[in-house]
Amino acid sequence: MRDIKFSIPNISKQDINLVGKIIKSGWLTHGKYTSLFEHEIKKFTKAKFAVSVSSCTAGLHISCLASDFKKGDEVIVPAQTHTATAHAIEYTGATPIFADVEYPSGNMSLDKIKDKITKKTKGVILVHMAGYPCEMDKIVRFCKKRKIKVLEDCAHALGTYFKGIHAGNFGLSGSFSFYPTKQITTGEGGVVITNNEKFYKKIKKFKAFGIDKDIKDRKKQGDYDVKSIGYNYRMTDFQAALGYRQIINYHKNLKARHLIAKRYIKNFSKTDKIIHMPYSATSSFFVFQIFCKNRDKILKKLKKKKIGVSVHYTNPLPKMSYYKKKYKLDIKDFRNSHKYGKLNISLPVYPKLKKQEIDKICGEIIKLV
Ligand SMILES: Cc1ncc(COP(=O)(O)O)c(C=O)c1O
Repeated sequence: MRDIKFSIPNISKQDINLVGKIIKSGWLTHGKYTSLFEHEIKKFTKAKFAVSVSSCTAGLHISCLASDFKKGDEVIVPAQTHTATAHAIEYTGATPIFADVEYPSGNMSLDKIKDKITKKTKGVILVHMAGYPCEMDKIVRFCKKRKIKVLEDCAHALGTYFKGIHAGNFGLSGSFSFYPTKQITTGEGGVVITNNEKFYKKIKKFKAFGIDKDIKDRKKQGDYDVKSIGYNYRMTDFQAALGYRQIINYHKNLKARHLIAKRYIKNFSKTDKIIHMPYSATSSFFVFQIFCKNRDKILKKLKKKKIGVSVHYTNPLPKMSYYKKKYKLDIKDFRNSHKYGKLNISLPVYPKLKKQEIDKICGEIIKLV
């Protein structure tokens, strides 16, 4: 049996042909595939607006700017997430306020948010961990009443639904990642979705230097103004072409992910020593997470057997040196995040993963617990 990789991007010959065609054309950015990709993202998520960006981190950054987060504001964020979620708040000068997550979902619940609310709370960023949806109805209702802005970090959530609505449509925006291990990839890249036109216009401006007019809206060449600071967070057209090919075929990919998750669950039903994420028809199964007491020993053994797995994530953010030094937080406040970080293993989920490979991964882990 071949070595089992943690992730294999789902890139077809047709995808490569299209990317090659765009590169050969010489029209590498601002091209038609950027619009086509954004259009297909809107179709898939049913959002009114979509803006492609150079990464999910960039999307989160400009979402925080468009939310007007600034020095003196507090924005609640899960303690157990990728550092990009909290960094996006830091970039604006606002303060990330870490809240514990639930175990084993890894998601921040309304109760955990309530624990951290103060007069300075201006926003909340939710993360749908491993593609498992947060309880968006309760959270949005609570935040709306208090004029607290909700943003969604959807880095794991392409194909995640809550009560029939795609993730990213609940808050002011949802930021998605197309890093190579994600469900679809553009190499590096991301997209921001929103249903708020004013917010959309702000996002577009922050993404491209603060320039107030798209090329197509300019009466003559060079006819634009710069009314605010902005960045260059554009995605190239050949990346967008790859994303376009991948999103139009994503339904098949998502179906395969659900079948893989079901097989993991069936195999792990043979033991009660492994806690795993529950099966949910509304999850995107970015990865399949399990929780084991002797996690580090298992990681070592799986590496020896050439079985690729990952960890999302080990240290909660309040334990990372940058945040630890700056905010001097007590790790005891983040009990579940700590436990989650110590026990989780992310198992591979991708369409090219074979049934025998899933069985081998499960068999080896069951032997080790
Ligand atoms: C939860 C979460 N948010 C944000 C990011 C950052 O995404 P990107 O690498 O596209 O900037 C990641 C990256 O994996 C992530 O896992």
